[in-house]
Amino acid sequence: MFAEWNQSCRLEERTCRPVVNGKRIPPDIAPITWAFFADGVDEIAGRFHYFDVNPRNQSAEFGYMVNPKFRQQGIGTKMVALAINNLFATTDLNKLYCQTAAFNIPSVKLLEKLKFHRDGVLREHHELDGKLYDDYLYSILRRELRCTHKSSQPP
Ligand SMILES: CC(C)(COP(=O)(O)OP(=O)(O)OC[C@H]1O[C@@H](n2cnc3c(N)ncnc32)[C@H](O)[C@@H]1OP(=O)(O)O)[C@@H](O)C(=O)NCCC(=O)NCCS
Repeated sequence: MFAEWNQSCRLEERTCRPVVNGKRIPPDIAPITWAFFADGVDEIAGRFHYFDVNPRNQSAEFGYMVNPKFRQQGIGTKMVALAINNLFATTDLNKLYCQTAAFNIPSVKLLEKLKFHRDGVLREHHELDGKLYDDYLYSILRRELRCTHKSSQPP
């Protein structure tokens, strides 16, 4: 019966996920990880990874972390700016997005500084020590980056 219902509209209308020959393609969640180095520092300063590339809507999710020894020195902001510039320069992705806990102040500040758009609030989505906190979804579109981060574009 449900198979019959499925014929009533196209799968593409019901999902934003990739569809090939009328079938959903499972997400490729294997991350691609980049290590970042900073001037004058002889160990890895930060990590940026992206995953769940969706070729249909040209989006990917990303995450980031700065070596705990080098936080609060602007490295995170610089790294994410460089990474997203590089991704837009070398792929056909149109949108990069990430999810962060509302209580993660450094992460929220970093994204807002880079003019990411807060797309939504996932209410009481993040469990920590038995309490539920909100998560935020942030994104940036290719056309927005061109206006905001010209100076951080890689050579
Ligand atoms: C989030 C993270 C990458 C930020 O890296 P960072 O190199 O410290 O970031 P920056 O130095 O560029 O700072 C970004 C902003 O956050 C602020 N900030 C950084 N650490 C802070 C802290 N502990 N408390 C309050 N503000 C903080 C900075 O002041 C800056 O804001 P400002 O320019 O308005 O002053 C780093 O804290 C981290 O690796 N955290 C653990 C992993 C994580 O949470 N990743 C995000 C998951 S989505």
